[in-house]
Amino acid sequence: MPVITAPQDFNSDDLFVDLRSTVGFSLFLKCEGFNFAGSVKLKAARGMVEAAERSGVLRPGSILIESSSGNLGVALSMIAASKGYRFVCVTDSRCNLTTRLLMEALGAEVHTVTEPEPVGGLLAARLNHVRARCAADARYVWLDQYRNVEAWKAHYCTTGPAIARQFPDLDVLFVGAGTTGTLMGCARYFRRWHPSVRIVAVDPVGSVSFGTPAGRRLIPGLGMNVRPPLLDESFIDDVVHVEEADAIRACHGLARRGFLFGGSTGTVVSGATRWLTDREAHQLTAVAISPDLGERYLDTLYQANWIHHLYGEDVLGADGLGVDELGVDVPAARPRPAAAGMTATSTRSPR
Ligand SMILES: Cc1ncc(COP(=O)(O)O)c(C=O)c1O
Repeated sequence: MPVITAPQDFNSDDLFVDLRSTVGFSLFLKCEGFNFAGSVKLKAARGMVEAAERSGVLRPGSILIESSSGNLGVALSMIAASKGYRFVCVTDSRCNLTTRLLMEALGAEVHTVTEPEPVGGLLAARLNHVRARCAADARYVWLDQYRNVEAWKAHYCTTGPAIARQFPDLDVLFVGAGTTGTLMGCARYFRRWHPSVRIVAVDPVGSVSFGTPAGRRLIPGLGMNVRPPLLDESFIDDVVHVEEADAIRACHGLARRGFLFGGSTGTVVSGATRWLTDREAHQLTAVAISPDLGERYLDTLYQANWIHHLYGEDVLGADGLGVDELGVDVPAARPRPAAAGMTATSTRSPR
């Protein structure tokens, strides 16, 4: 029985959802949402904070500051509260209300940037604000999740080994790409210790991370408008790009089976299902990483008006459930409309 004194001391690293009866492939979903921060970002946050403490950069009286539109901000709010640091989260108007309220409930100051920079948009405006505060007051400590190697190291030491422990015969691992901390930590771990495991990055359409064109993206967590500094493609075997409409359908399909996950989970499950379908990979054992749960997205991904307004009335199909997107036998049998379909791009020769 775990007994803890600090919220970051608890994390669940051994929970997997068996999706075989849902997608028709040996696909298992590693759940990263069961901790007090509610997401995979607890690992990066904890790794970065503890490394900054060890190096002496972060000390009593320091003020943590970070640019985040969501889960990292919540995780840092929690850790800062637990350790007695002040924390300023610099976010923008796309940050959802629940996330902002969560950070404030944990004692963080949330600064919301509303004016995009002409080059680099809202993210550039957020980073400029962080830099300005750091320049004005030496107490600020910016962990910089986009460049901090402690983010991938956290996954190298925890997520990768936890997956390998449960699935010693794993063939393929699907990981969503945001800052790519999760992706690179797992990819480096498997390359070093289990090099036969194929690593497939899952990226939303509209993200430029892997060299595809920029476009509208509304589901938080995955995708970048600039190339992620942590990304090293030499560790990645393949990339799939997923339309947001497909991610939403996957979320709703899972919800109809009682599993309420966040949008990045829908993206990864949709990408994994398509990749396995395209290769008729019934003999492979696959794991996909689920970064968080669905409650933070009730007023967006799970709200009919929001979905219909942004993705069209038909996005969930005639029955409104999105279930057949995940249905057994369906992906292989049903031709996909080009516009709504996910583009599965093989950027590496299959191993
Ligand atoms: C919901 C969600 N999914 C996925 C990710 C991507 O994780 P990473 O930044 O490690 O690539 C994040 C990161 O913030 C996230 O919040």
